[in-house]
Amino acid sequence: MLRKALMAAAASERVREAVMGMPAARAVVDRYVAGESSEDAVAVARELRSAGLLVTLDYLGEDTTDAQRAAATAAQYVHLLGKLAAEGLTEAGAVEVSVKPTALGLLLGSEGKPGPNALGERVATEHLDRIAAAAADAGTTVTVDAEDHTTTDAALRIAGSLRSRFPSVGTVVQAALRRTEADVRGLAVPGTRVRLCKGAYAEPVTEAFAARHDVDKSYARCLRILMAGPGYPMIATHDPRLIAITRSLGLARATDSFEYQMLYGVRPEEQRRLAASSAKVRVYVPYGGDWYRYLVRRLAERPANLALFLRSLLSPGG
Ligand code: FDA
Repeated sequence: MLRKALMAAAASERVREAVMGMPAARAVVDRYVAGESSEDAVAVARELRSAGLLVTLDYLGEDTTDAQRAAATAAQYVHLLGKLAAEGLTEAGAVEVSVKPTALGLLLGSEGKPGPNALGERVATEHLDRIAAAAADAGTTVTVDAEDHTTTDAALRIAGSLRSRFPSVGTVVQAALRRTEADVRGLAVPGTRVRLCKGAYAEPVTEAFAARHDVDKSYARCLRILMAGPGYPMIATHDPRLIAITRSLGLARATDSFEYQMLYGVRPEEQRRLAASSAKVRVYVPYGGDWYRYLVRRLAERPANLALFLRSLLSPGG
């Protein structure tokens, strides 16, 4: 309930402008976001690598309906990949990138109607193709993030079509969606890289499980399918119970045949603890100035963070 109400309030342009203009928001942003520039992103990637962690970098932004902005986002990724390669960070995919199709124009031409159309899908595919080519040149790859359910079919199609040229391109599935168990069965085939997450978007009950324990049960079902399959599962969660299940399912596989993934700023000690136990652990690191909606999703999944955030905004000088 709280999560839905927060996400609805956060959608208001006035709330967005107010929060982005508040200096006190910065402290919370800094916990979850690497910084504004590609230099900041590279510096954080370097630091995480030296702690034995793998990295995926996300240039913040989503839902653009501006073709120039979509092209600029693609150019930013190509620029970033060049910088990472120059520092040797992309070797063997140690640092890769995560990309949201709606940041690359998936919603272009949809004129306020929900969901993507053919024009947007073509534009986003072309941009992603360029980014995947730059990633391949740099010795690394791309993972196509999952967004709200209206974009799921298009995102799966885009990632599927890229895989024919760039086989290591990753797909993301959300356990919260009712369709996902069936999607996962189709994706648990040789050569696929599949990130399994719970899902961070407020969705209608027709599409998604509403109760947390139903999402968790769906996650566990999908996890078993992926971990029993021949692909490369990327288990994205901070949930101790799901991490424990992954660990026990992982005993039947080579340690380097799957990885754990966590968000920058969330359970950093656990990230290091798992990596020290010789598991592969990748940290998802967002950077850029367009942090508002990413931050709202992080606050919505953790009411304690929200309370802290509101207190800091209301405190004198905040
Ligand atoms: P859950 O929310 O139940 O949290 C379990 C525990 O983790 C909490 O009890 C707390 O200890 C800790 N925790 C979780 N969130 C926290 C926070 N924000 N601050 C502090 N502590 C926190 N979603 C999506 O829809 N599309 C995508 O492409 C991705 N990509 C993605 C990549 C990676 C690497 C991760 C880890 C996550 C995503 N997500 C995502 C987000 C995902 O769907 C989900 O919203 C969050 O991971 C939170 O879910 P958990 O599985 O961690 O469980």
